[in-house]
Amino acid sequence: MSDTSARVVMITGGNSGIGFATARKLAAKGFHVIMASRNQQTSAQAIARIRADQPDARVESIPLDLASFASIRQCAAAFQAKGYPLHVLINNAGGAFKGKQASFTADGFEMTFGTNHQGHFLLTHLLLDNLKRSAPARVITVSSQRHIPGYSGGPGAKFDYANLKGEKFYNASVFYCNSKLANMWFAYELQRRLAGTGVTSNAVCPGFVPEAIGDRRTSLFDRWLYRQFLPRLPFARSLDQASSSYLLAATDARWEGVGGKFIVDGKERRSSEDSYDEAQARRLWEMSWTWCGLDKLAASDQAAQNA
Ligand SMILES: NC(=O)c1ccc[n+]([C@@H]2O[C@H](COP(=O)([O-])OP(=O)(O)OC[C@H]3O[C@@H](n4cnc5c(N)ncnc54)[C@H](OP(=O)(O)O)[C@@H]3O)[C@@H](O)[C@H]2O)c1
Repeated sequence: MSDTSARVVMITGGNSGIGFATARKLAAKGFHVIMASRNQQTSAQAIARIRADQPDARVESIPLDLASFASIRQCAAAFQAKGYPLHVLINNAGGAFKGKQASFTADGFEMTFGTNHQGHFLLTHLLLDNLKRSAPARVITVSSQRHIPGYSGGPGAKFDYANLKGEKFYNASVFYCNSKLANMWFAYELQRRLAGTGVTSNAVCPGFVPEAIGDRRTSLFDRWLYRQFLPRLPFARSLDQASSSYLLAATDARWEGVGGKFIVDGKERRSSEDSYDEAQARRLWEMSWTWCGLDKLAASDQAAQNA
């Protein structure tokens, strides 16, 4: 992507962790960065940290709570009111929300699935026209290799429509893997539906990045583990490595016009067998469309056009 000063990137969760490291690099490359974050205090601190190194950085914040459809709609409207183009959307925010019992978003979805998948599904749709008008443009959705059964000895995803809210059982790790499989289905299905628009959709995994999540650990031992010990393991990735791999997917010329890929460490990787199931991807897409109320929005737009 040339002439980066005219290029606008929105990154969800750009106020901390890998999102912040990426926002800082994007700003250093001259991109105009929009941090869409739920905590305006940490966003202001994040912007101040970027400006301390780069006084001319074009970086600003828009409030976004992915666990609330109302907040997502307000975020999209606030962005659109600015009249900027949108060249890259990085759906980064989220994670595994710990707990023995499920917690829920404002709209009643299990928190991890609701934030990681459902929130980004709605946000992306509300910004799709902006992306299409700004093409060539890219959507990058952050998944995780943990959705793959057996990855790092983990169980992988066990997606079950009858247990989306933890009706049958709840396990935070399984729900995280499910949300990351949903991210894969979304990224691949979006690419199929965007064919010919000049907007591409890919998924990325940053690898295991203990530094990013160390600050959220409450016990002193865990903090030491995540900050000092785990980062030394050979398979761990640093914040610098993880943000560089986001940057490659979001901006590098080698990925221009390329979509429908799972990108890890800047290279194409195979995702789980389930993630390539197009019928499943369509099913989740159609259900997500209704859950977010996009069916009603499309019907009222149609009625307005016919009037
Ligand atoms: N770290 C890893 O090892 C690893 C591995 C694979 C994939 N990933 C993925 O990488 C992405 C970034 O994670 P990270 O490691 O950088 O973790 P992190 O430091 O915990 O960052 C998560 C970001 O998501 C934001 N967020 C959480 N819930 C939100 C909501 N409801 N609305 C808006 N923002 C919300 C957080 O905001 P607050 O600061 O306000 O909490 C924070 O900015 C996630 O999608 C994660 O699943 C991470």
